[in-house]
Amino acid sequence: LRKEDPIYWNERWNGWVFTRYHDINKILLDHRFTAERIRPSKNMPEQMVLDMASTYEILSKWMVFNDPPNHTRIRMLVNKAFTPKAVEEMRPFMHEITDSLLNQVESSKKMDVIRDYAFLLPILVISKMLGLPDEDRDLLKQWSDDLLLLVFGAVKETNRHERAKNGLQQMVYYLEDVVQARQKNSQDDLITALVNAKEKGDALSMGEVISTCTLLIFGGHETTTNLIANGLYSLLKNPDQLEKLRSNPSLINTAIEELLRYEGPSKAIMRIAKEDVQIEDKRIKKGQRVLLMQNIANRDPEVFENPDKLDIARQSNHHLGFGKGIHYCLGAPLARLESTIAINQVLNRLKNIRLERTDLDWQPNIISRALKQLPII
Ligand code: HEM
Repeated sequence: LRKEDPIYWNERWNGWVFTRYHDINKILLDHRFTAERIRPSKNMPEQMVLDMASTYEILSKWMVFNDPPNHTRIRMLVNKAFTPKAVEEMRPFMHEITDSLLNQVESSKKMDVIRDYAFLLPILVISKMLGLPDEDRDLLKQWSDDLLLLVFGAVKETNRHERAKNGLQQMVYYLEDVVQARQKNSQDDLITALVNAKEKGDALSMGEVISTCTLLIFGGHETTTNLIANGLYSLLKNPDQLEKLRSNPSLINTAIEELLRYEGPSKAIMRIAKEDVQIEDKRIKKGQRVLLMQNIANRDPEVFENPDKLDIARQSNHHLGFGKGIHYCLGAPLARLESTIAINQVLNRLKNIRLERTDLDWQPNIISRALKQLPII
């Protein structure tokens, strides 16, 4: 595809699909493409439009769906709360959680990496950072999964709007109570920091704090789970690289970047043209959607030597796994730390692991690269 038709119109998806690294890199930096891609649909029955209005209220405040100046303002305020220090402080908790999860599986000698390990860590970490109780994680995960149906719209389900709307609304009611409590009584957590974040007299509104919390919960767990699972899967399929990492633990940082490039969890980013844009012989018309396939670009031989080879020591690895430009993933440092600890712990503690079977299934989804299960013995 990248070689034969690198910019093509996809009839089914009703938009342009880009697969070359340099094209995607440019579009992500091009202000003629907007990130404002959440709209109340005009074609829905009346009742639905009303119901959807509240969902739209929340999602339209997600920084990832905003252009400057709104985006700049929200991201700057959120940055005051979501600091490198707040991420670093989670390190001992991440060790504690991974240790206790591995204690449980060590005795059973068998595990599904996703269900028993990779899924639990990110949701526990983001809940803890926000200051939400551990026991609510199943609820948060359920609401967040329901929302996935709406945001990505990749799953064909007739009642997906209904489920997504209900999930999001319940998450919002839940968070409303917590935010109000933090407004009265500060705690040492991310929600309090978001409530108190100030920049030149400006602060996040109550709605913006709640919306941002839903984005952090949603953006923070599914993707990181898949980085840990896809990462371990890639290493197990490439035993030479697995051994190399075991004998050179200091390669973990380049290894994580390579795992993001080689089998990153985010497959594609969407934008909409704000005006007509000519790219080579293709005319992208105002209002048309573009789908930027990061995972294909991350294997572009114009940019990466031996792109289909997993090389955990790869240098100058400018992959697009976390996006590019002003929307570059806010949670990248957290995702890097979680996956570093999670993968290191498995390699250190489970010395003889291997895949239980190799014919694994991927979730049918155009946006995220996710295995259904990852059974190891
Ligand atoms: C943005 C990927 C983990 C929060 C993004 C974008 C990508 C991405 C590709 C850019 C979207 C765009 O340009 O439209 C990933 C991957 C992750 C990960 C692959 C894990 C391996 C996290 C975590 C959090 C997070 C752990 C927070 C807890 C965000 C936020 C944005 C974002 C808030 C929006 C940034 C903005 O619009 O300025 N992420 N993400 N992500 N991510 Fe992540």
